[in-house]
Amino acid sequence: MDDAIRVTVETDDGDETVRIHDTEGAVEVGDAMFRFSVDDERADDGERPYTDGNVSADRDNSGTETDSREQGPSAATPESATDPRRLVAVDDVPTRGTIRFEAIDGQRGTEGILERSGDGVYAWRNSCPHKPHVRLDPGFGARTTDDHIVCHEHGARFVRGDGFCTRGPCRGQSLDLIEVECRDGDVYLTDERFDSGRRL
Ligand code: FES
Repeated sequence: MDDAIRVTVETDDGDETVRIHDTEGAVEVGDAMFRFSVDDERADDGERPYTDGNVSADRDNSGTETDSREQGPSAATPESATDPRRLVAVDDVPTRGTIRFEAIDGQRGTEGILERSGDGVYAWRNSCPHKPHVRLDPGFGARTTDDHIVCHEHGARFVRGDGFCTRGPCRGQSLDLIEVECRDGDVYLTDERFDSGRRL
């Protein structure tokens, strides 16, 4: 298998993610070990759920493989395209809702969300403090108001740009901040816990 794939196991204590370059692997969560194998033939037919990095091979109608770097709403500049810590263009971060990204440390990935409040872009771990396995953004954007990110599960409210919970079952707790900065129109990971990142 040429490209790495990402495997995530969700537990009550959070997510564990590994990326593998072979057709077999394992994820260790607590005392348990989950082993898995990948049907490489099926993956070559385009059913692979994830590929590593920002480049994915898609097939157009003629069956020809195309490079996704040539497409998309925000083509990166040559400099930003080579920086593994670049996540997205600032303009791609919504003022309503959120988008997801993966922050990577070696073989381990952590899912995060980006939101834009006022002039700032903020990143949080995609996890509710009340029940860490609950994603604030399940894949189509977290619920937001003018001032808050709202957990869809039990309605906890977190101040946008601050992460502090003002209402709900985890009142008084905060979202886990992931440090990012905006530079030349792009958002970059600056959090030292991670080596690289990519938009999901
Ligand atoms: S899981 Fe988010 S408020 Fe309960």
